[in-house]
Amino acid sequence: MRFTIYQAIGLLSLVSVSLSRSLPEKRQTSVAAWVSTEQNIALSSLFRNIGSSGEFAKSADPGAVIASPSTSSPDYYYQWTRDSAMVFKVLLNQYINGNSSLETMLKEYATESAKLQKTSNPSGSYTTGGIGEPKFYVNGAAFTGGWGRPQLDGPAIRATVLTKFANMLLDAGETSYVTSTLYDSAFPTNSVIKADLEYVANYWTNSGFDLWEEVNGQHFFTYIVQYRALVEGAELANRLGDTGAGTYYTTQAAAIKAKLPSFWSSSKGYLLATLNTGRTGLDCGTLLGSLHGNGARGFNVYPASSPEVLATVKALVDSMKTLYAINTASGAPGVAIGRYPEDVYDGVGTSTANPWFICTLTTAEVLFTAAKEFTAAGSITVTSVNQAFLQQFKSSASSGTTYAAGSTDFTSIIAAINTYADTFVATAQLHAASNGSLSEQFSRTDGSQKGARDLTWSYASFLTTAAARAGTIAF
Ligand SMILES: *[C@@H]1O[C@H](CO)[C@@H](O)[C@H](O)[C@H]1NC(C)=O
Ligand SMILES: *[C@@H]1O[C@H](CO)[C@@H](O)[C@H](O)[C@H]1NC(C)=O
Repeated sequence: MRFTIYQAIGLLSLVSVSLSRSLPEKRQTSVAAWVSTEQNIALSSLFRNIGSSGEFAKSADPGAVIASPSTSSPDYYYQWTRDSAMVFKVLLNQYINGNSSLETMLKEYATESAKLQKTSNPSGSYTTGGIGEPKFYVNGAAFTGGWGRPQLDGPAIRATVLTKFANMLLDAGETSYVTSTLYDSAFPTNSVIKADLEYVANYWTNSGFDLWEEVNGQHFFTYIVQYRALVEGAELANRLGDTGAGTYYTTQAAAIKAKLPSFWSSSKGYLLATLNTGRTGLDCGTLLGSLHGNGARGFNVYPASSPEVLATVKALVDSMKTLYAINTASGAPGVAIGRYPEDVYDGVGTSTANPWFICTLTTAEVLFTAAKEFTAAGSITVTSVNQAFLQQFKSSASSGTTYAAGSTDFTSIIAAINTYADTFVATAQLHAASNGSLSEQFSRTDGSQKGARDLTWSYASFLTTAAARAGTIAF
């Protein structure tokens, strides 16, 4: 989000200011207590932004997610394919965990998605690339203004959500709904999942804009969510007898997977967000890619606990530590994280960028997930790539050492990673509104909320982080 390349980009010098005064003493409860309270607030705030029953989304189509209720400075009163899929992934998790009443809302989301797919827009029509259009009005009409388009991640994440939903409905015997609405093998198809999978499988080699809508190119986040969508999509296609498509999706998934190692920079020692840019390449989108490209399925392509992802976490945090005055203020509970160090989007226009709730919480989510994965694996192996990360918790950690589950070292490293993760949650806690609201950003100098208010994706990000903190990896 949300600033288009059509706005003038004024590259400001990235000056770090050190703040001598202390931060307000706002954080009065423990992280655990706040997470527990905020969970209910985040979930109800998420529902408020979903049409057409949501308080802030009455004029939106059923199943449409407004990015934020903010209609000016900035105007986020639109639906974005990616954000909506991120939000429905959270609701799918609630459905998996037993809230069966969400079936209606998930079906409304599928209906709205089919409508958007068939709405001709500046990226094209149904069969000519229009499925990669990132942004629509809340009534499903095409947005025809200038924008960073296409964006190839949204259809992939949407396919992942609806593929899991389809599998659950098939397990429950709702075959006719699945084969008529979600997946039929005809081509061109009327079914929403197959349309997304065909788009991803046929277009993934094309350039597109990144998840922040600014850079046109090849992105780690986009590739890894496309890879996952095609692996799971191939399984659904095969389950429904569409084996030709299943083979095609599997082949394309393997080709995407083969590209992922090119994002690793051995000279920089971290994963690059985008190939061939003038930026450092450090970006919280890479951490989001690790989480959403693996999920509860765990495909083992750069999972949270991989040395490359943990090295990227350390490099990203290091790049932000002195960038924002709130991070060096006395009493700061942790490091607030922004999208990427070169960012200039202040939430309304361009000046100096701020940390984001999504990025601060995602850093915690990756750490909680890594701790869980190490525990499941039964060991932590130090390599030259993750050594600097692990030395933060065990100063003598050196490449080649393995800490086995049950050992004192293993237990203390896992505890330290979880404690470290909580410092990022505590940072979000400190800057959340006292009524629990989460905007898009919070001020780099005083922590006050900035940018779009009640950002739906901020709530989604909080909820998946809270789940990871409780030891559950979101689907
Ligand atoms: C279950 O989903 C419904 C929406 O279908 C929502 O109103 C309700 O609050 C959810 N229940 C829980 C316990 O989250
Ligand atoms: C918190 O208060 C603000 C300002 O009144 C409001 O915009 C926001 O929706 C409130 N948040 C919640 C979760 O009720």
